[in-house]
Amino acid sequence: MTNSDQSALDKKNIDTVLVLDFGSQYTQLIARRIRELDVFSIILPWDISKKRIVEMNPTGIILSGGPESVTKNNTPRIPEVIFDLEIPILGICYGMQTLAEQFGGQVTASKRKEFGHASIILDKVSILFDGFDAGSSIDVWMSHGDHVSTLPEQFDLVASTPSAPIAAMAHSEKPIYALQFHPEVTHTKEGSVILENFVFKICHCKTQWKMENLIEQRILDIKERVGENKVLLGLSGGVDSSVTAMLLDRAIGKNLICMFVDNGLLRKNEAEDVENLFKEKMDLNLLVIDAKKIFHRHLKGVSDPEQKRKVIGRTFIDIFDNESAKLKDDINFLAQGTIYPDVIESSESESKEARVIKSHHNVGGLPDDMKMDLVEPLRDLFKDEVRRMGAELGLPLEMLNRHPFPGPGLGVRILGEITPEKVMTLQNADAIFIEELIKANLYHQVSQAFCAYLPVKSVGVVGDERRYADVIAIRAVETVDFMTATWAKLPYDFLGHVSNRIVNEIEEISRVVYDISSKPPATIEWE
Ligand code: XMP
Repeated sequence: MTNSDQSALDKKNIDTVLVLDFGSQYTQLIARRIRELDVFSIILPWDISKKRIVEMNPTGIILSGGPESVTKNNTPRIPEVIFDLEIPILGICYGMQTLAEQFGGQVTASKRKEFGHASIILDKVSILFDGFDAGSSIDVWMSHGDHVSTLPEQFDLVASTPSAPIAAMAHSEKPIYALQFHPEVTHTKEGSVILENFVFKICHCKTQWKMENLIEQRILDIKERVGENKVLLGLSGGVDSSVTAMLLDRAIGKNLICMFVDNGLLRKNEAEDVENLFKEKMDLNLLVIDAKKIFHRHLKGVSDPEQKRKVIGRTFIDIFDNESAKLKDDINFLAQGTIYPDVIESSESESKEARVIKSHHNVGGLPDDMKMDLVEPLRDLFKDEVRRMGAELGLPLEMLNRHPFPGPGLGVRILGEITPEKVMTLQNADAIFIEELIKANLYHQVSQAFCAYLPVKSVGVVGDERRYADVIAIRAVETVDFMTATWAKLPYDFLGHVSNRIVNEIEEISRVVYDISSKPPATIEWE
């Protein structure tokens, strides 16, 4: 990891709640909830070095849940250095169990996993539950197998349920608390109150994580790091690279060179829209590389999906390399729109200090003789924070709230061989579908929507004419994390209207179908 990333993530000199990750699916949510309170929070793996923890100088620590069992040997434990820091600690689920065990309590493996809603009864007034009286009942979300069966010495029982008699506990002298349930998920209705109590009444954090300050701070950091040097940024038109561009533009102006590669697989008018916004309206230093012909030449005759992805990826890297080599005497830094979930998802980057280039976001390798340092000013931000930053920096809302678009573009939405003609047909069909979704106020009710091109000929009759042509599939899904998704139940009338428009306005299409597959087993894209 380069120095820049470390300094972007650490040493913020603002109050910080460190979340030690024991592998829970909810770990990211904990940090997001804390940041929603305008307090900085960062996630590190439970086995991070003592030195990093001490350097970070956290104001409080939250121990996440996790899939392991403390009843087994060689499962994760809390690093002892945390107890030496004498700062507030909150253990959640696995975090509670290992805390209990490390303080001499007992954890028992249950045969049945408790998963779902439960009601805890507060046995004792505690500052963590400030606002609730003893005896109150609170609806919470449980997801655990093991439970604490014997309180450690020096700990008091705070709350219980019939199936988890020790549902919350607190140290009698130190600011150490633990919860069997998950305050970070919205199913725990009062979860935010509990986290607020921890952050403000126990850790006494100040609200220093504010978007306005953050933008100003980032601009200063970039100026300090980059100085009078030039920075190259691969702009994809997506939210992350666009916000990175705006931030760098504010910091270094014309010393930022943005490169946008038109691969001939973009949405209708996308290259023009990007050029118009960033070059004409915002006056950024933008190079648009028209590589449509090169991509289509390389894709000729390729119909295997994996092969198509490889060709698209490789061609992108070649073009980016060639074009940046032309500028090479000038450029010292490469900027990337890496965001926090990318960093967490490649979590070895923290444990093993490995660098992972965000390859799917269009920036691949660079020529060996180009020694460029990375600038990643969004590296510690969640997507919603990136969007808020983009809005403050003046990026249009349509762009910030657009559905995701894959790096290989329409290349993953055309089955079989890709040709410029099919791309144009698909662009036109997709533009009709999206335009109608927006008009019907349905665009933001689905998470992702698009058309796919199926090279299957079928007979249709349009007007008086028989037409033997290909098929367009309409896809719209609802999802939170894009890992699983359900097909959107769009109104029949609406679907009928879109289908009519596509067949009437696009000669190359004789039939439209609606994709009613969910993920799994299907994927969101068609390839
Ligand atoms: P699948 O098709 O795997 O897609 O269910 C899940 C999400 O990922 C997007 N996707 C990609 N995004 N580069 C990207 O940047 C890619 O190669 C890529 N492939 C799929 C897809 O659009 C959906 O949102």
